[in-house]
Amino acid sequence: MEIKFIPHYFIGTASVSESEKNTILQYVEKDTKNFIGKTTESAIGHDLFISSPTHSDIEDNIDYKKYDEILNKYIVSFVNQLTDYNFGLELLYYTNIYVKGQFAGPHYDDGDFTMIYFAKCDENSPATSVELSKNWLDLQYKFEKLPTIGGQSFDFKGIPGNIFFFPSSNLHWVLSSRSESERIVIVANVTVKINK
Ligand SMILES: [Fe+2]
Repeated sequence: MEIKFIPHYFIGTASVSESEKNTILQYVEKDTKNFIGKTTESAIGHDLFISSPTHSDIEDNIDYKKYDEILNKYIVSFVNQLTDYNFGLELLYYTNIYVKGQFAGPHYDDGDFTMIYFAKCDENSPATSVELSKNWLDLQYKFEKLPTIGGQSFDFKGIPGNIFFFPSSNLHWVLSSRSESERIVIVANVTVKINK
């Protein structure tokens, strides 16, 4: 399990195994059957359906334990790169679904960092974009291993099976989807309780 990690920016990427990817897709297709194509006003005021306890008042009634059984080890592995102390995790999972034309305006999440798992998307699905500081823009000229960055944001264009970690307190957004099929991500707001 390799987590690519950029320490200073607190951003990480990983991919689940092929069988984990297929298992999660089966879960997602069953769990989101009643949500696909449905639109509602989210708490952040955009034309976006989010079955999310933090972004809207809709309860999705999804049992996230089975997702956590797969994704938890990736989250632990990411946090292991941030601290040598023992820690516990508080995880708030939710599902975001974007059909054509739907987007998420710039917002912050709760927690220390946000994990996004790309369950379903294609080449016309939007990236998740995270605002960059001026420092980041300077550093990309200095360090050749920093990811390619265009403009003012780090744009993570996931493919199914990808995981993307970023600080919850960084402004982030998702541009309007141009895809004919839905983009479905499983998200966790992650709070780390460090035992010092
Ligand atoms: Fe978010």
